[in-house]
Amino acid sequence: MSKPKILVTGGAGYIGSHTVVELYNAGYEPIIIDNFNNSEPFILDRIKQITGATPSFFKGDVCERAYVQNVLSQHPDIKGVIHFAAYKAVGESVNEPLKYYYNNLNSLVTLLQELQAKDINNIVFSSSCTVYGQPATNPVTENFPIQKAESPYGNTKQICEDILTDTTKVSDTKAIALRYFNPIGAHDSALIGELPIGVPNCLVPFLTQTAIGKREKLSIFGNDYNTPDGTCIRDYLHVVDLAKAHVRAIERLLKSESADKLEIFNLGTGKGSSVKEVVDTFVAETGVDFNYEYAPRRAGDVEQVFADTTKATEVLGWKTERDLKNMLVTAWAWEKAIAKK
Ligand code: UFG
Repeated sequence: MSKPKILVTGGAGYIGSHTVVELYNAGYEPIIIDNFNNSEPFILDRIKQITGATPSFFKGDVCERAYVQNVLSQHPDIKGVIHFAAYKAVGESVNEPLKYYYNNLNSLVTLLQELQAKDINNIVFSSSCTVYGQPATNPVTENFPIQKAESPYGNTKQICEDILTDTTKVSDTKAIALRYFNPIGAHDSALIGELPIGVPNCLVPFLTQTAIGKREKLSIFGNDYNTPDGTCIRDYLHVVDLAKAHVRAIERLLKSESADKLEIFNLGTGKGSSVKEVVDTFVAETGVDFNYEYAPRRAGDVEQVFADTTKATEVLGWKTERDLKNMLVTAWAWEKAIAKK
């Protein structure tokens, strides 16, 4: 029997590439589209090295209708889509809101329209815990109120969830929106991982770049928060665990396991870790020391947020398997591997 084909937009990106690998592991045939806006062509070779398979690949932009039509007509037997392709830098979105609204909204709308035209009804969407803002309490369940977005990026995630809500109500489209907490880490092979462009905004790539000597020191943004050690708390999860959640989600859609047209799941470990804990765990696990300093709070940061994962565990049948130590050890192995490249 031929393997079910799954279209993966942004399949050369950080979470996308790990998901492509897990799709192969689970017996699917991923079809990748990516415009390399925030990813590198060599990742496709790395996927081949890991899986032994050469994915079908189409270079282009999901906002371009004719291009999407061409991909779908070349693979009319695609069963579902995992849609990663989007801009994701919070700070950049504040400075260039139209770039974010145009790309992140248009890509979803164009994709949904073209999928409907081909009667492809299953879509998994990358959402974010950013929709909760600073929750009144933690952990947060999927029923917590959505708060006004702090950035155009965050707003695009909220609007995309609304687009899915409205679309699934009146069409055959079925969707699962996955609200990621903080994905970090890399594949065990150290062949794929996060490739930040320029100076990283996120904690772990900045930390590993400092540890390897690319950056002088890490600034810990704020140590006067109302948390046990004064630094912010997040729910970090391993990107391979996260990738497996996407495989489970597309399988759930393909098997029509739910009567709901749109389902939303938090994806995290359920455990919050502070910035200081991340730094200390990295040093303890790798034996590599590096410079850091406490710096003022970063605008827009929430004090703490971590997931209630009950729904993901009980309904989706997924939970994380890897701990913070493994996340940081694999992130470090990847940083060392790309330094050699
Ligand atoms: N941090 C530092 N120093 C740094 C970078 C980050 O102390 O150099 C701190 C931040 O202040 C925060 C924590 O590390 O307390 C995590 O910061 P990240 O930038 O790694 O992650 P965020 O939680 O801010 O952002 C992530 C995603 C966004 C998403 C957001 C909310 O990167 O895309 O979660 O969902 F919008």
